[in-house]
Amino acid sequence: MSSPSSSPAASYPASTTSSYRSSSPSSRSSDAQASPFQRHAFSRNPSPSPGRGRGHSHAAMESARSPDPFMAASLHQPCWRPTVKAALSNGTMNGHRGYCQEPDVWQQAPVLTGTTQFEPRPDVRNIMITGGAGFIASWVVRHLTLTYPHAYNIVSFDKLDYCSSLNNTRALNDKRNFTFYHGDLTNPSEVLDCMERYHIDTVMHFAAQSHVDLSFGNSYSFTHANVYGTHVLLESAKKARITRFIHVSTDEVYGEVGHGEGELQESSILAPTNPYAASKAAAEMMVHSYHKSFKLPTIIVRSNNVYGPHQYPEKIIPKFICLLNRGRPVVLHGDGSPTRRYLYAADAADAFDTILHKGQTGHVYNVGSTDEISNLELCGKILSAMEIGHDTPEQFRNWVKYTHDRPFNDCRYAVDGSKLRKLGWEQKTTFQEGLQMTVEWYRRFGEQWWGDISHVLTPFPIVSEGEIVPDVEHLVKDDPPTPVERSLAKGISQKGISQKAS
Ligand SMILES: NC(=O)c1ccc[n+]([C@@H]2O[C@H](COP(=O)([O-])OP(=O)(O)OC[C@H]3O[C@@H](n4cnc5c(N)ncnc54)[C@H](O)[C@@H]3O)[C@@H](O)[C@H]2O)c1
Repeated sequence: MSSPSSSPAASYPASTTSSYRSSSPSSRSSDAQASPFQRHAFSRNPSPSPGRGRGHSHAAMESARSPDPFMAASLHQPCWRPTVKAALSNGTMNGHRGYCQEPDVWQQAPVLTGTTQFEPRPDVRNIMITGGAGFIASWVVRHLTLTYPHAYNIVSFDKLDYCSSLNNTRALNDKRNFTFYHGDLTNPSEVLDCMERYHIDTVMHFAAQSHVDLSFGNSYSFTHANVYGTHVLLESAKKARITRFIHVSTDEVYGEVGHGEGELQESSILAPTNPYAASKAAAEMMVHSYHKSFKLPTIIVRSNNVYGPHQYPEKIIPKFICLLNRGRPVVLHGDGSPTRRYLYAADAADAFDTILHKGQTGHVYNVGSTDEISNLELCGKILSAMEIGHDTPEQFRNWVKYTHDRPFNDCRYAVDGSKLRKLGWEQKTTFQEGLQMTVEWYRRFGEQWWGDISHVLTPFPIVSEGEIVPDVEHLVKDDPPTPVERSLAKGISQKGISQKAS
């Protein structure tokens, strides 16, 4: 019977409940001797897959192949596939800096993971984690790679979109049970190649277009990545006879839950209200159908908002911290009254570890936090954590401004997380602790981790030709919009969005 236990004590900072592991070269190399995967030296060379169309030759692909995928590369010389290597030498990939300009920033950063550890499952050995260079999945990648070095091989599969960074998993590059595969979910041959090449038995599917704000003006890309991408993954999982498929969804699929209304259980109906949430709900339907039609052993997870180090500063908490770090005010959408429940990323990593080990196939699990905070209150908490004076109304107005709202902004989400808690998971990090750790991390690394982030710090950035660009000028005011201003601004914003999308 597996049981949760704590991994080595945290030391970053002293109060953290997440686990901190040194990223110093000496500690990184130590596991190379101990791993039973010596036989199956796990390659960090995800050799090219056919059909990618990024300029690599077939000969190069073939020469990079090895009969045993785990014996393909030297353990201590990260060897990226040609296209990735070439792109990185130019400093960019997919129009985005895969490695940031500061080559050693990752070495100075703590290696953050969750804290749970279970008896390894005998039916799990090679785990493909999609979106592994993004925020939540990189926590799970680090956690599973470092917590189960002798039991599991982890393959991080990511297309390296604008919000990702290889810095998120850079400290794992010399771990023999870690590899990175540069692939796109919407490319069936790459997905299947990854599964077959690395004998994948378990999939944890995080990759998605995840930013609600962008989905209002760029919704086709959300349907493409989140729905079609999930479909490709499911079809490939069926072909590759995957034995455990964990699909990461969101609490947003339920739609808004009015103030005072009860928490929603996993059996509640799905009623998404924005294109992002709708694409996630649609993806769930595909997962459900593959479970019913093909007996694919699936689990669906619907989580509250997650925050913490490694989150791209387009989301509210890191964005506001980065703005304040620059001495600039934050800008709230609407009047700042919508509430969200926030879960620290280490606790989220623990939730996924728990579900990987104890979740039952065919089931849905909510991951619920107890910290429900309005956007306005959040500003006060961030200002306090950053020790920026905001006690008087004048001080507060210096740092907190307002602009028009999203086309639709759910007032609240509220899931009942008791089903997961029955599996032994618990939320360990208070919001105050988690926020303090997050503030410290962004103070030290936020400006370097992803390269230049200026363009995402505007109130409503947009995506144009695969790049995030600043939005058009918005009216920013010292006071929340009046009801009349709200409805006027909503009309203007919707017109702006449809013009941008066309
Ligand atoms: N962040 C939250 O608060 C939250 C809350 C609940 C659920 N979720 C869900 O958790 C998952 C991860 O969210 P996140 O905030 O960490 O996301 P993120 O935006 O930080 O990372 C997404 C990752 O997916 C990759 N990706 C996107 N499209 C891809 C494609 N076609 N092929 C391969 N890789 C692709 C990106 O490069 C990126 O690394 C998502 O499914 C999201 O819907 C997030």
